[in-house]
Amino acid sequence: MKAIIPAAGLGTRFLPATKGVPKELLPLLSKPVIQHVVEEALDVEGVDAAIIVNSHEKPMLEAYFSPAPKLEGFLEEHGKGALAEKVREAGELPVAFVYQDEPLGLGHAVLQAASEVGEEPFFVLLGDYVVPAHGMSPAMAAVSAAHGGASVICVAPVDPSTTGRWGIVAGDLVEGADPDAPGAVLKLSGLVEKPAPEVAPTHLAIVGRYLLSPRVMGLLADQGTGAGGEIQLTDALVRLLAEEEMFALVVDGRDGLDTGTPATWAAANARMALHDEGSLEAFFEELGDDAQLIP
Ligand code: UTP
Repeated sequence: MKAIIPAAGLGTRFLPATKGVPKELLPLLSKPVIQHVVEEALDVEGVDAAIIVNSHEKPMLEAYFSPAPKLEGFLEEHGKGALAEKVREAGELPVAFVYQDEPLGLGHAVLQAASEVGEEPFFVLLGDYVVPAHGMSPAMAAVSAAHGGASVICVAPVDPSTTGRWGIVAGDLVEGADPDAPGAVLKLSGLVEKPAPEVAPTHLAIVGRYLLSPRVMGLLADQGTGAGGEIQLTDALVRLLAEEEMFALVVDGRDGLDTGTPATWAAANARMALHDEGSLEAFFEELGDDAQLIP
């Protein structure tokens, strides 16, 4: 099975930093955001490769996942074998690249990997959204297996006034007692991209992790533009729902870290540092008196 990681967007919410560095290469502690995502994908049983959808404007992404023998040699010679190993690991991950010529939207990005996934179900993990620890994919795979291999997307409750920023789903509870509680499963009855709060059917938002039927690729091939003038994955999923059952797995929104804006990226780094034994002490030391600002 393949995992598609779209990473070809312009990252406009993070300009001017993204003029120089793709947002997916910004660090979360010592590793780039996208390496966390790739490792999460490869951790899932049955996933043998990550397919990154890249842009020709972002060659640093492919360079990062390539071997760096000169740097490794330098580190070895200077007694820094452990660091050389980390550099080697990043260059040896089973990552392949496909290219999106223009950032026409998430659906269009996913479509660029169609020939890589063939007729198999596939995961989509957004390249700027990290789920530390266990990831969401194993639980998604379990829900899919329990429902005949159906597509599964992860959703989390969001503030109802913010539905216009998200893909929103509606459905009937088939597992659990509370649709807002992590672990609940809904059989989907509808999806809508970025609805205004007045018309949003729920406040359950898609959070960047999908396990999809290969059939969606055929739908994406002729999907027109939707919200924001972009070819939206959500719109193709609406059409998929007319053909196949689909399910949503409710997760705790705090399990995932969005890194797409300066504020969310800074918060993601702080949360990683708070949960990383190796960084915790130095993090608080550096913060000094400002540490008291952390509630
Ligand atoms: P985002 O909408 O968060 O990324 O897409 P963006 O468009 O780069 O960000 P802004 O809004 O301009 O700040 C989520 C993921 O999907 C990828 C992005 O690179 C990001 O990792 N993406 C988005 C694509 O690969 N292609 C696209 O056309 C759009």
